[in-house]
Amino acid sequence: MMKISSQSPAHNTLIGVSFVLFMLSVGYSANSAEQKPEPKRQRELIHLLVQDCGSCHGLTLKGGLGPALLPQDLKDKDSEFLADVILEGVPGTPMPPWNVEITELEAKWLVQRMKEGGIDDR
Ligand code: HEC
Repeated sequence: MMKISSQSPAHNTLIGVSFVLFMLSVGYSANSAEQKPEPKRQRELIHLLVQDCGSCHGLTLKGGLGPALLPQDLKDKDSEFLADVILEGVPGTPMPPWNVEITELEAKWLVQRMKEGGIDDR
């Protein structure tokens, strides 16, 4: 004999709502994970980081005229703050603003690369 579902309509609605919320959250995080430059632009940015930023911060970002930008140096610093420093520069110091060459998204991406370390311009 077939048993008719014992679940109440309210229960089914709850499952439906949870599923929609779950899909929304998955969609949202997948979307924010895509917030990064195109692969070609990523290579250009790493090149810029090593060549241009490296001229002050050291080719391996160990520091020079500018401070070291290695993971251990940046781990306690707020990513938004560091992206702002890159975009706006630090007035009264040699750190120039980069907002003509680099977008906000790109600055945040560079901060993540610096926090991860192992930057290699090849
Ligand atoms: C002309 C030299 C120069 C160049 C080129 C330069 N910087 Fe800087 N940068 C500095 C100096 C000097 C400081 C320290 C400013 C201060 O005293 O707060 C600094 C600070 C920073 C900071 C903040 C570090 C911290 O610990 O607070 C970040 C991040 C940074 N630079 C990233 C970059 C990036 C990325 C580039 C290339 C896009 C770049 N810099 C290019 C000189 C430079």
